[in-house]
Amino acid sequence: MTLVLGVETSCDETAAALVRDGALAGQKLASQEDVHALFGGVVPEIASREHLRLVPRLVHSLMEEVGGAWSDVSAVAVARGPGLLGSLLVGVGFAGGLSLSLGAPVIGVDHLLAHLAAPGLEREIPYPCLGLLVSGGHTSLYFLRGPLEAERLGRTLDDAAGEAFDKAAKALNLPYPGGPLIEALSRGAEPDPAMFPRPYLDNDNLDFSFSGLKTAVLDRLSRAGGLRFPSMVPPGGPLPEASAELARFCASFSQAVADTLTAKVRRAMDRRPQARGIVLAGGVAANERLRRSVEEAARERSMEFIASSPKLCTDNAAMIAYTGWRMLQRGWTHAPGLAAVPRGRPTPADHVQAAVVRDAS
Ligand code: KG4
Ligand code: ZN
Repeated sequence: MTLVLGVETSCDETAAALVRDGALAGQKLASQEDVHALFGGVVPEIASREHLRLVPRLVHSLMEEVGGAWSDVSAVAVARGPGLLGSLLVGVGFAGGLSLSLGAPVIGVDHLLAHLAAPGLEREIPYPCLGLLVSGGHTSLYFLRGPLEAERLGRTLDDAAGEAFDKAAKALNLPYPGGPLIEALSRGAEPDPAMFPRPYLDNDNLDFSFSGLKTAVLDRLSRAGGLRFPSMVPPGGPLPEASAELARFCASFSQAVADTLTAKVRRAMDRRPQARGIVLAGGVAANERLRRSVEEAARERSMEFIASSPKLCTDNAAMIAYTGWRMLQRGWTHAPGLAAVPRGRPTPADHVQAAVVRDAS
């Protein structure tokens, strides 16, 4: 039996999970959304302190709930980046200490790879395939040869897709993170395809640019002043009723993001015909319009569409424990002094190869 404990602290979610022989045995998640919502985004210093407060109790209550014995833990996997450095250091420090006390190896997991591998917890992924990772900090297209092999084909040159949602939401006086709220407000409305541009498609690359969309949102709002909520909507509470006009605005914005992402996905499909499917991953992958749009592109080419259930799309520790388990299968672990990787830096391939690969069938 191989039992991998996963810890996630890269941004504003504190999470712990256990993966037993490749299957999820249990998970705990404490979102800090409410703490950061009033600031309109994540405050790094507050995030680190909250992680420090929450990680030990989440891990303990998870072990209790699952009835796992500490001596059964084969490895401690931790998201090492990219993310907020202060937040990552809390997780990496905790995992390093725990691994020393248990005599089990620590495994540093790339948070982006983990998002892309996460659907493997629920179904088999037909590699090689394409991967579209859309989160609050990243928007990239990949060619995936396996769960641990991702070749980046394109990336955003400015804002991430989730950031575009969050900024549009902020302009409407909606709290952070605004993506799910924009989706909720847009339900049932018919998008107007002419309301927003599909930016950065007039080129032949696989990169994205969403900053123009933000400008278009602000422009539209300044012309249609009555659209935004008059004051900041309190986080966590029920959403105020949306006018038909606001619902259409939110639907049109979501569709513009979905169309723009899907246009580059189609281009990637043309360039990598050997891909058997497309993995849609990251927080924005929870968005229904985007899911439908990418699924349609996959269907046109008889490719498989693979996306996690929405709970596994946003940040979680199940994906960290699962990717850690995949690494352990290959005998990949890290030295106790594992470095955290801040945003914007590539994750180094600095794992140590164990002489004997543990049985992780
Ligand atoms: O992957 P994630 O949980 O954290 C990062 O690593 O960034 O992604 C969070 C992002 C936020 O920008 C949030 O607004 C967006 O995902 N998001 C959504 C939806 N659910 C989360 N965006 C659009 N529609 C959704 N349903
Ligand atoms: Zn993430």
